[in-house]
Amino acid sequence: MRLLLIGPPGAGKGTQAQKLSKFYGIPHISTGDILREAIRNGTPVGARAQFFVESGGLVPDDVMIQIVVERLSQSDVEKGFILDGFPRTDAQAMVLIEALKVMNKSIQKAIVLKCPDAVILDRICGRRICPQCNAVYHIINQQPRIIGICDHDGTALIQREDDMESRIARRLAKYYNALDSITRHFSDILEDVDANQPPDDVFANISGSCSRVA
Ligand code: AP5
Repeated sequence: MRLLLIGPPGAGKGTQAQKLSKFYGIPHISTGDILREAIRNGTPVGARAQFFVESGGLVPDDVMIQIVVERLSQSDVEKGFILDGFPRTDAQAMVLIEALKVMNKSIQKAIVLKCPDAVILDRICGRRICPQCNAVYHIINQQPRIIGICDHDGTALIQREDDMESRIARRLAKYYNALDSITRHFSDILEDVDANQPPDDVFANISGSCSRVA
């Protein structure tokens, strides 16, 4: 399965990608996670991306394209992958399609998660993440067993810099402005899924949709 998860910030792409990754036994490639790790580790990519990520802007295409093309050349993507957060521009979509073509592959399904802005605001403001394993929690909807601590590795949970309420409008605007220029490349394999439901119901709809891939 080679799957794209498209959706506004906070729609649940990361949450669903983690479930799908376990279910299909294929890697979850989150460009947001890759960038946050690069920022934490102080790499040159992190230094270039930090301002854009933390202010809710888009990291330049050349940086993103290099990250994804390199990631797709690794052997664990042979069986498939779930791409979360890429492509986010017309140029990124075109490069992705071409890079896969060279490998005799293509994206098989593109899911667009739909969620009202008010729900998104609540989800983002309440989100906490594990900086070690990238597990995603919510202070009300998806609590860890011990408040503030990751269930998987005991790391203290953090709030993302870009999850401040003041940044969310900008992130949403960037998403909606680019949406058509991304989805037009995948119109024949595109399916909308209502993300404003409990996570297991969203998962059932996505996996149901993936099971219909030819
Ligand atoms: P990225 O990390 O990709 O952020 P995003 O797209 O804004 O998406 P989020 O991670 O905010 O949300 P999500 O949909 O994954 O939701 P989640 O599952 O966490 O990118 C960050 C930044 O990096 C970008 O702004 C940009 O600067 C840069 N970047 C990344 N890729 C780029 C690219 N290709 N080009 C240029 N720049 C790029 O869930 C959210 C919360 O809701 C959680 O608390 C969760 O527990 C809860 N939740 C999830 N599902 C449900 C549900 N069904 N019901 C109730 N609660 C739920």
